Amino acid sequence: MSKLTVVDHPLVQHKLTLMRKKETSTAVFRQLLKEISLLLCYEVTRDLKLTTQHIETPMQEMDAPILAGKKLVFASILRAGNGLLEGMLELVPSARVSHVGLYRDHETLQPVEYYFKAPDDLGDRLVIAVDPMLATSNSANMAIEKLKQHGATKIRFLCLLAAPEGIEALQKAHPDVDIFTAAIDKGLNDNGYILPGIGDAGDRMYGTK
Ligand code: URA
Repeated sequence: MSKLTVVDHPLVQHKLTLMRKKETSTAVFRQLLKEISLLLCYEVTRDLKLTTQHIETPMQEMDAPILAGKKLVFASILRAGNGLLEGMLELVPSARVSHVGLYRDHETLQPVEYYFKAPDDLGDRLVIAVDPMLATSNSANMAIEKLKQHGATKIRFLCLLAAPEGIEALQKAHPDVDIFTAAIDKGLNDNGYILPGIGDAGDRMYGTK
């Protein structure tokens, strides 16, 4: 069974509460999401392997720690994933980026793929799939399936909010994928929205409603 990490850092929880408020403007919502994504990125990369590099400081030589292995891949599940991606790329500017374009059919709640692009060597890299909302997990399951079909073997899933139903579905479909979230909410409504949630993450970050 995959590991589930709730990032309970006070700054994350504070910012999340501000994002949940319905009166929070699009501009502030986007800014908060960017700030929170830096903190979530810090947690999801906490156990990255290090090696050492021989360097010279202005004072003397030393063996200094440096990230080992190939650059990370951040896989954004469009469109809301881009809200997390932006801040994460600020923290890890050398990361490669994959885009998985899925939209949710509002009647069936099933994801429909319209775009996929990823580096060729996904199998050699740690892939962090990002989507602010883990609701039914239909989109996350399909996106992760696509990444695996393109060779990814080490995948983590990072979101802002998760519903218990989504966690269960993701763990069942992909028991090898560890999940990182800022909070686990009560559950889903009949339309597959998280309660109490934050509403439609894409609409809130892009002001489309
Ligand atoms: N997607 C969203 O944007 N919000 C939800 O609550 C669930 C899925």
